[in-house]
Amino acid sequence: MSFSRQVFGAVQRRAFSASTRSNSKVAVLGASGGIGQPLSLLLKLNPRVSELGLYDVRGGPGVAADISHINTKSTVKGYDPTPSGLKECLTGSEIVLIPAGVPRKPGMTRDDLFNTNASIVRDLAKACADAAPEANILIISNPVNSTVPITAEVFKSKGVYNPKRLFGVTTLDVVRASRFISELKGTDPANENITVVGGHSGATIVPLLSQSGYELKGDKLDEYVRRVQFGGDEVVQAKGGAGSATLSMAMAGARFAESLLKAAQGQKGVIEPTFVDSPLYKDQGCDFFASNVELGPNGVEKIHPVGKITPYEQKLLDVCLKDLAGNIKKGVAWAKENP
Ligand code: NAI
Repeated sequence: MSFSRQVFGAVQRRAFSASTRSNSKVAVLGASGGIGQPLSLLLKLNPRVSELGLYDVRGGPGVAADISHINTKSTVKGYDPTPSGLKECLTGSEIVLIPAGVPRKPGMTRDDLFNTNASIVRDLAKACADAAPEANILIISNPVNSTVPITAEVFKSKGVYNPKRLFGVTTLDVVRASRFISELKGTDPANENITVVGGHSGATIVPLLSQSGYELKGDKLDEYVRRVQFGGDEVVQAKGGAGSATLSMAMAGARFAESLLKAAQGQKGVIEPTFVDSPLYKDQGCDFFASNVELGPNGVEKIHPVGKITPYEQKLLDVCLKDLAGNIKKGVAWAKENP
C-alpha cells in the first residue's frame, strides 16, 4: 500500500472514531430518581458520551445544572416535564436509559410495581418510538420481565420495532453474582464474570455458576443461588422503605451503556447478558430471554445460547421459563388492552 493511502487510511480512521465519539448522545428518563442521579453522574464521567439529556417529571433541569459543572467534555441539558421537553431530550439520542417509575418497598415483589410502572414505561416508550425510533432503548424500570414486552408492543404498534435495539438491563444480577462468589472464594470480584440467564426477578434469575468452573454443593449452592435471585430484597429491607438498589444499579446501568457505546464505536467481542427478543425459548412462551449477547453497531449482534449446564441449573431454568412466560404474557396482554 502506498504511503499516501496509509496516511489517508489513518486519518480516516481517526476522523471516524472522532466523529462517532462526538455523536454519542445519551438520554436518561427518570433522571432525578434514586437510580437516575448517580447513573447520570457516571455517564457524565464517561468520555464516550458527548451529550447527556436528562428528563424527569420533576427536577430534571436541577440535576442537569449540578452535573453540568463537572469538568468533563460532554454537554448536559435538563428538560422540562412537557411533551416538547421530552421530545427534545430524546431527539438524536443513540442510547435511552429508562429508570423512571416507582421502586419496591419491603415485602413487595417486582410484579407488585406492574400497575404503576406499566403505564409510565408505555408512555415513555411512545415518546421514544416517535422521537428516537432508532435509538438503543435500555429498560431499567421494573418489572423488567413485563416492561420490556410492553415497550416492544408500543414500538410494534407504531411500526418501528427493531428487536436488536431493545434491552432489559439485567447487568445488576451479573454484578451481584460475581461479587457474591468472590466473597465465598476469596477472589478478586473484578475478575469474576458469572453468567446469569433468564429474566430479572426472583426465580427467573438463573446464575450459571458451573460455567465459570466453580462447584458449590448442597446448602452452600442453594444459599448462593437464593442470594443472587433475591439480592435485591437485601437492599430493599436494609433501606427500610426508602427504596431499592440505586447506587449498584446506577453502576450496572452505566456499565451496560458503556458496553453498547464501545460496540457502536467498533470494538469487537463486547458481550453482556441482557434481556432481549430472543429465539432461544420462544417455543416455551418466552419471546424474551436474557443470555449472553454480543453487542455491535446495530445493537444485538449475536445471541448466545445458554450452553452446557448442570442438572441442578436445568431445574432452575425450568422454573424460570414457567414464571417468565407468565410475566411476558401479562405485559403483552396489558399493552394490547391499554394502547
Ligand atoms: P425513584 O422513585 O427514586 O426514581 C424514579 C424517578 O422516576 C423519579 O425521579 C420520578 O420522578 C421519575 N418518574 C416517574 N414517572 C415518570 C415519567 N412518567 N417520566 C419521567 N420520569 C418519571 O426510583 P428508583 O429507585 O430510581 O427506581 C426506578 C426503577 O428502577 C424502579 O422501577 C425500580 O424497581 C427499578 N430498578 C431496576 C433494577 C434493575 O436491575 N433493572 C434495579 C433496581 C431498581
